[in-house]
Amino acid sequence: MLLLTLRQTLLPAKTRVSLILPRRLNRMASTTIINPPRDPNTLSNYNNFRTTATAVDVEVDFSKQMLKGKVSHKLQSITDAATNEIILDSSHVLIKDISVGGKSHKDFELLARVEPYGSPLKITLEKGIPLSDFIDVSITFETTSKCTALQWLTPAQTSNKKHPYMFSQCEAIHARSIFPCQDTPDVKAPFKFTVKSPLPVIASGIADSSNPTTASSDGTSQTYHFTQSVPIPSYLYAIASGDIGFAPIGPRSTVATSPEALSAAQWEFKDDTERQLQAAESVVFPYKWGQYNILVLPPSFPFGGMENPIYTFATPTVVSGDRQNIDVIAHEASHSWSGNLVTNASWEHFWLNEGWTTYIERRIQAILHDNNDAWRDFSAIIGWAALTEAMEHFGEDHEFTKLVVDLKGKDPDDAFSTVPYEKGFTFLYYIEKLIGKDTFDKFIPHYFKTWEGKSLDSYDFKDTLLKFFESDASTSKKLATIDWDTWFYKPGYPPKPDFDTSLVDGVYALAKKWETFTRDPNSTDFTPKPSDIEGWTGNQLVVFLEAILNFSSPLPTQHARYMGKYYSLVDRENVEISSRFYQVAMISRDDSVKGKVVELLGQVGRMKYVRPLYRCLVQIDRTLAEETFEKNREFYHPICRNMVQKLLSGVKGGKFNG
Ligand code: BES
Ligand code: ZN
Repeated sequence: MLLLTLRQTLLPAKTRVSLILPRRLNRMASTTIINPPRDPNTLSNYNNFRTTATAVDVEVDFSKQMLKGKVSHKLQSITDAATNEIILDSSHVLIKDISVGGKSHKDFELLARVEPYGSPLKITLEKGIPLSDFIDVSITFETTSKCTALQWLTPAQTSNKKHPYMFSQCEAIHARSIFPCQDTPDVKAPFKFTVKSPLPVIASGIADSSNPTTASSDGTSQTYHFTQSVPIPSYLYAIASGDIGFAPIGPRSTVATSPEALSAAQWEFKDDTERQLQAAESVVFPYKWGQYNILVLPPSFPFGGMENPIYTFATPTVVSGDRQNIDVIAHEASHSWSGNLVTNASWEHFWLNEGWTTYIERRIQAILHDNNDAWRDFSAIIGWAALTEAMEHFGEDHEFTKLVVDLKGKDPDDAFSTVPYEKGFTFLYYIEKLIGKDTFDKFIPHYFKTWEGKSLDSYDFKDTLLKFFESDASTSKKLATIDWDTWFYKPGYPPKPDFDTSLVDGVYALAKKWETFTRDPNSTDFTPKPSDIEGWTGNQLVVFLEAILNFSSPLPTQHARYMGKYYSLVDRENVEISSRFYQVAMISRDDSVKGKVVELLGQVGRMKYVRPLYRCLVQIDRTLAEETFEKNREFYHPICRNMVQKLLSGVKGGKFNG
């Protein structure tokens, strides 16, 4: 009976749990897993024990490029089966010692590796732990060269070439390659961080006021402490250490980056960060994390941004000198509610993180443009173009084009694409239009309050929405028309919203002229000239280039060259523009951009740019693509390296953002 009650708490009745584990996992875990977990991408037995607090104490060893230290978890038994085995995720981590309840404990083993989930660490206890009792487990570990979460840069690989640098990227399932843990977004715990390093350290917690602010003069290690008292999942554990300086960008915000890049970064963010936060607060509720800071990373950072709490990690391409890419910050700041406070229970429901975040991000855009919703539609139109590319890449009946995907036995990195962002956004936008914005606005804070500090799946979302409007007959009637199964499980495009195109009409008109010109230059008096794009924002150029990329046939080579020349699209500081133009050019078989592409691929490791560029380059010059990859292999983050490798060897999937 008790088991049933717990089962109901852990697995809401309407949850579609996978009752069949992949065979290999089943064999391995058959004796210990009581309830099938709702996250198929963890090998931990988190349905037997739950992490309630974690402390990670590490030393940064730049010379050996490793972290060594100790992770301590306070686990609580959550079944009355009194299980005596604790299974934690771990991947390529060296285990030195284990203690249980403060005493050295020898009965542990690393189980055989199960790709892509790692080698689970099994700790066998002398006796089972009764329901609700706690047990302290500490593991002394070292990371290895196969760690997928960390990137280590030698001084030569950094911008000022003076000091080494290291940073982590744990989403989705890479935290397990730093320390053994229940590496699932379905488990959240407060964290304490202790980091010893000879260089300044940043982490996803609040820094102790006693932390050093500069490196020691003699190069010896100093100790930094951070506390994250809001419970977070393991994927939000983050640290970075290197030659980092700090500058204020708002009343609760600091930007951190390499000292010589600091003033440019400060200028990029100082006028907007606080406004973005306040806009998000007006849509949801007050910010819960104390500070909101931004760390601008070295160029190999594989994402545009990563929503590590307290410190968003951002690509240096955001600092483009024109404030045209600060929407990345609106996005990452929005994760402070969707993702970080309210978290997807598994990567199968990733749209709850990214779709909601994209929705809030676009509400911010509108608010900051005098509440003009044309601005959020402008951003949504760009998103729809990216969705189109993803659909074309995967094929419209591919599993990964569903809102809720099946990731059993799969690597979440392979499933990531714009689909959860854009299909998720489209779903929320559809619901908003269906019941009216004012009505939906009442639901937003309720949803975030209800799930704050917890993890949920798509069925919980549905229940929360329907329940909230239960006593409102007219809204309930509208909600009853939602075809949930189609939204959740049908692959391919969702219905296209009726976007306000006022900010892109001129852009489409110009694209149309190019299309006619391309089809038959004699049928039109159009001649491209620089003034065609005068006064355009970066994003308008992005929409234009997306439209060109969507032409049914590529531009003739010569036309692509004209375009690059007249619109000065080569060598643009704003990589959103230059990388898209290079794609246009390569698809048009314009070999003259190859040199620029190779140059960019050696300067920027953001996957959003790297992957489409390799995908085009390999089409026109496989040898050059392979050579370029070999040359930059070490420059790329392990996640990016792995993705490009898959791409070059022709493995489908593993596509991120177009
Ligand atoms: N959480 C993501 C980045 C991520 C996704 C890391 C999947 C690991 C696995 C982040 O919030 C994000 O969406 N970044 C985007 C920013 C963009 C949508 C403004 C990116 O990196 O391009
Ligand atoms: Zn995101």
